Amino acid sequence: MTEITFSWPVEYKDKKNRNIIIRPYTDDDFPLLKEMYDTFEPKGIEAGIPPIEPHTRDKWLASIVSDFYNIVASYKGRIIGHAGLDLSNPNLCPEYLIFIKQGFRDCGIGTFITKIMKELAYQSGCQKVWLTVRSANTRAIRVFEKAQFRFKGGIDIQREMELLIRPSSSRSKRNDS
Ligand SMILES: CC(C)(COP(=O)(O)OP(=O)(O)OC[C@H]1O[C@@H](n2cnc3c(N)ncnc32)[C@H](O)[C@@H]1OP(=O)(O)O)[C@@H](O)C(=O)NCCC(=O)NCCS
Repeated sequence: MTEITFSWPVEYKDKKNRNIIIRPYTDDDFPLLKEMYDTFEPKGIEAGIPPIEPHTRDKWLASIVSDFYNIVASYKGRIIGHAGLDLSNPNLCPEYLIFIKQGFRDCGIGTFITKIMKELAYQSGCQKVWLTVRSANTRAIRVFEKAQFRFKGGIDIQREMELLIRPSSSRSKRNDS
C-alpha cells in the first residue's frame, strides 16, 4: 500500500467545541472501531453498510481494515468517525467511504475528514475517487459536493459520485478547483 506522509494527528474543534482527534487507523483500534459500528445507527441503509447482521458486519469491517487506507476520528478515547480509501488496488481510482457516529453528525467532522482524504488521494497518486450514495442522503451529498465530488451517470435511488484529483493525461499538475 502507498506510503502516505501527513502531519498526524490532526486536531479539529467541531461545531460543538469538542476536540476531535483524526489520525490513521492502526490494528489496536479494531475493538473500538468495531464498537462504533456495532452501536452505529442506522445500519444497512447505504448499499447495505454497515451491515445489520453481526457476522456479516464483522466480515465487512475486517475486509475494510485490511484493504483500505483508513483514518479514524476519536473523542475522549472513543472512535466516533471512520473514513476509508481503497488503495489496495493500484488502479488509481479508489472507492471512498465515510461514517460518522450519531451524536457527532452535522458538526463539520465529515467535511473536515473528506478534505483530508482528498489530500491523501492526491499524495497517493490517484486520478480520481468514487463513491456511491443514496439520492435521499442529501446531507452526505452536500458534504461530497463541498469537496468537489460530482454526480456520474443517471439518476437512480443509488448514485455514483466522483472526484477528479488530477487529469488522467498528466499526473504532475494539481487540480485544486
Ligand atoms: C454523511 C456524513 C458522513 C456527513 O458527515 P457530517 O460530519 O455529519 O457532515 P458535516 O457536519 O461536515 O456537514 C454536513 C453538511 O450538510 C448539511 N446538511 C445537514 N442536513 C442536511 C440535509 N438533510 N440536506 C442537505 N444538507 C444537509 C449541513 O448544513 C452541512 O453543510 P454546511 O457545512 O454547508 O452547513 C455523516 O452525517 C454520516 O456518517 N451519516 C450517516 C452515514 C452516511 O450517510 N454515510 C455516507 C455514506 S455514502
